[in-house]
Amino acid sequence: MTTLRDIKVRKVDFQLQNGLPIRWFKNNLITSHFVDSLHLIFPDGEKFFIRSVKAHEIYIKDPELIRQVKAFIGQELIHGNEHKKFWENLRNNGYDIDKFLNFYNHLSYEIIEKNMNQLFGQKYSLAVTVALEHYTATLAKFAFEEMKELEGVHENMRQMLLWHASEEVEHRSVAFDVLKEVDPSYTLRIAGMVRATIALSSMTLLGFFFFIIEDIKQGRFFTIGELLEFLDHFTKLIRHLAREMISYLKTDFHPDQVEIDKFAIEFFKKYNVERGSGKLQAVV
Ligand SMILES: [Fe+2]
Ligand SMILES: [Fe+2]
Repeated sequence: MTTLRDIKVRKVDFQLQNGLPIRWFKNNLITSHFVDSLHLIFPDGEKFFIRSVKAHEIYIKDPELIRQVKAFIGQELIHGNEHKKFWENLRNNGYDIDKFLNFYNHLSYEIIEKNMNQLFGQKYSLAVTVALEHYTATLAKFAFEEMKELEGVHENMRQMLLWHASEEVEHRSVAFDVLKEVDPSYTLRIAGMVRATIALSSMTLLGFFFFIIEDIKQGRFFTIGELLEFLDHFTKLIRHLAREMISYLKTDFHPDQVEIDKFAIEFFKKYNVERGSGKLQAVV
């Protein structure tokens, strides 16, 4: 059965094109770059999610799920566009991000996605999307719960990341429910998780090291304090991810078992993020 959850497509503008410092994440160069790497990989990753779900739209019979798929596509498209706005800020700060983006796109989508679809069928890409959606919902939980709603992060970026996190919470079961209708095989779901884990971790780390190398070239270095703070956040993140991935391995797992709706509901009650609603600010 499909969850009855309101998945709203919101038109937003967090004005991330310029004005953000290099150390936008709590004045920490390393943590900023770790999330910068996600900013680079998300937009094309989200296009991949949309492709893999769209390819199976014709098999969905439940009208509520069809409606949710449309809202899922709308939300993911806007997420990608907002992350892309920040690319301009990164370019303005002197990072040659197109070098990394070309490599990432060529390897992940022109080579891996194409070949995997030919070898195993598009169902496998859908299973990868399902796993990555569990990762994004898990990251959302981490940001709200363990990172205290990203306290201390540049305000526009903080609201953008929490808006994205909240919408990931809203649509977290859509791709899963589509896969269940197409092929409920446990093996397929776990095979998707294996490929998703390898792809996400390798690309995030490659992007992260890309930024560190660019810094060295420009004579910019991180401090020991920044490194220690980053390692503390990173250890917490790995522990959090490991816990949530263990629940994904259960045969009766469903994304709705992760109790995170309250974070999205509270966020949208507190922040009016829609374009035209005035300045970006807390409404309470
Ligand atoms: Fe997204
Ligand atoms: Fe998503």
